[in-house]
Amino acid sequence: MDVALHPDVSWLAALIGTWEGTGTGEYPTIDGFSYLESITFGHVGKPFVTYAQRTRHPETGLPMHAEMGYWRIPGPGAIEIVMAQPTGLAEIYEGAMVLDGPTMVVDVRSTSIGATTSAKEVTITERTFSVSGDEMQYTFRMAAVGQPLQHHLSARLQRVA
Ligand code: HEM
Repeated sequence: MDVALHPDVSWLAALIGTWEGTGTGEYPTIDGFSYLESITFGHVGKPFVTYAQRTRHPETGLPMHAEMGYWRIPGPGAIEIVMAQPTGLAEIYEGAMVLDGPTMVVDVRSTSIGATTSAKEVTITERTFSVSGDEMQYTFRMAAVGQPLQHHLSARLQRVA
């Protein structure tokens, strides 16, 4: 069934589709790493956009991190994201989205992070997405395991479908 994008999330039309690319990660407590990534943004005609992400090891192809979420637009220029992690974390983000010429920039910071008893300590997360046509880049920062807020990930993807 092909339904129209809900008008409340029309600002997110530029994201809909599947994106693939590569990323790198680091943090003071771990060895640096790289990954292959696939992100699919979808919708069902309701006032949210779905987000499903998977990563794989570039040499072995084995699964690495994955996450799923919902993106919402509460008003002009504002964005809310709910993101669930298999590591026992649930992030709530709020932030802004702006158009900079042909580039859409989404910049969000956690307002709360829920954690299961066994999850690692993560107290702040921030994400910045930049989308221009079929090119997407993002960065991810976190305060975690006793470390101050700093870079964990950056990736570059292209729309493939
Ligand atoms: C593309 C997505 C991601 C990839 C590929 C990735 C990959 C990794 C890898 C390889 C490690 C080190 C080994 C391990 O503990 O598994 C790690 C550690 C960690 N990551 Fe990520 N990660 C991603 C996203 C995230 C997100 C979204 C969060 C938080 C919401 C996060 C929080 C952490 C934490 C807390 C650690 C442990 C650091 C430590 O124990 O010293 N990661 N990540």
